[in-house]
Amino acid sequence: MKPVRLALLGCGTVGAEVVRLLHEQADDLTARIGAPIEIAGIAVRRLARDRGDLPVDPALFTTDALGLVKRDDVDVVVEVVGGIEPARTWLVEALRAGKSVVTANKALLAEDGGTLHDAATEGGSDLYYEAAVAGAIPLLRPLRESLHGDKITRVTGIVNGTTNYILSSMDSSGASFTEALEEATALGYAEADPTADVDGFDAAAKAAILASLAFHSRVGAADVHREGITEVSAADVASAKAMGCTIKLLCIASRVSGPSGDSVSVRVHPAMIPRTHPLASVGDAFNAVFVEAEAAGQLMFYGRGAGGAPTASAVLGDIVAVGRNRLAGVRSASESAYADLPVRPMGEVVTRYHISLDVADRAGVLAAVAGVFAKHDVSIATVRQSGRGDDAILVIVTHGAPDAALAATVRELQALDIVRSIASVLRVEGATT
Ligand code: NDP
Ligand code: HSE
Repeated sequence: MKPVRLALLGCGTVGAEVVRLLHEQADDLTARIGAPIEIAGIAVRRLARDRGDLPVDPALFTTDALGLVKRDDVDVVVEVVGGIEPARTWLVEALRAGKSVVTANKALLAEDGGTLHDAATEGGSDLYYEAAVAGAIPLLRPLRESLHGDKITRVTGIVNGTTNYILSSMDSSGASFTEALEEATALGYAEADPTADVDGFDAAAKAAILASLAFHSRVGAADVHREGITEVSAADVASAKAMGCTIKLLCIASRVSGPSGDSVSVRVHPAMIPRTHPLASVGDAFNAVFVEAEAAGQLMFYGRGAGGAPTASAVLGDIVAVGRNRLAGVRSASESAYADLPVRPMGEVVTRYHISLDVADRAGVLAAVAGVFAKHDVSIATVRQSGRGDDAILVIVTHGAPDAALAATVRELQALDIVRSIASVLRVEGATT
């Protein structure tokens, strides 16, 4: 049996687990693919790095990733390095040359997925990236295959484990954001530089990939409205609890119908959701994605969204798929971006707000505040007031209104002299009373 020859680019958290699983499951993988997998080479940055007892010949390591990709005896390129360049150059080279590519690189797919898909079409190659969103959870293949006969209307997900750990910890212990981040760092969930997670960049990249697949359109990271969780306070969490809600960093991609046709809205931001919502019980560093489709109804995908072994599981699934395709002399369906739906500006997206205001407690204040909402045509759903000496805390939850109208309302409230401060502004998702 002629082996399928694989170039592994990267041998860190994910790559090392890919090597281990390829070794441990060699016989089963051979049976499933119809041919053995052989590692042709492993590209890394530091040859001298201690790689423990990795079950692989040390002579396979190289720092020349491009040279490895170009070798004639390589059939499949597995990229688990990350970042835009040089990963893009390697993958475009491989795809144009007809080699199959498996990648976990969400940043590159969200930044310039179109270039990779074009190169795959040019080379007649397979491009698989199940591990790029929600780690071990089989999610992209259901979107790009199983649900291809249906019309997806909305994808709502918790797709970043670090921020979910932080927010879950704040919810259960009342900790501040800083305390919860320190805990997440100590436990190894958060990176030394947690910016990509806590500022929402990671979730935004995944949101772009999900929206592209769900709505058959090219959606990039720049199309995603992004807010992180650094401003979420212990008081916000307590306020959410008082409303029977919890706060989650959500990625929401939805199809919006309008008089001039359909469009898509894609956003990542913290939001209050009712504790009865299926995503509310997703704790710790787990991920979950809730998909709504016209015929299928509601579907939920849940599991580990990160970590070496869970992510490697998704990579291995892709390796089996591309290995089988190569043996059968076929390639999977190419990118489906025929719908080419425009991305709706965030200002036009209808959302609900929870606003907590510190106001003077005297006659006419409530009317003045309500007047600002009315001026911007934002309907108030509930108002709670609690006195505090000469001041009062007003907590207002709105009905759905265009985001731009809500933002203008908040700006005008800020300028009122009866408003001492705006303690928090959070979006509300899902049905709340
Ligand atoms: P790591 O930082 O642990 O590993 C990166 C690997 O790439 C290392 O082996 C490093 O070499 C190698 N590398 C870096 N630069 C180069 C270069 N210029 N040439 C050759 N090799 C290079 O990353 P992860 O394993 O955590 O992540 C890999 C990919 O998987 C990323 O795209 C990430 O977004 C994605 N991913 C990761 C998840 C996770 O839980 N970790 C979850 C889902 C996706 P050396 O070993 O010598 O340093
Ligand atoms: N929703 C109404 C408003 C209040 O915002 O004016 C109740 O009539």
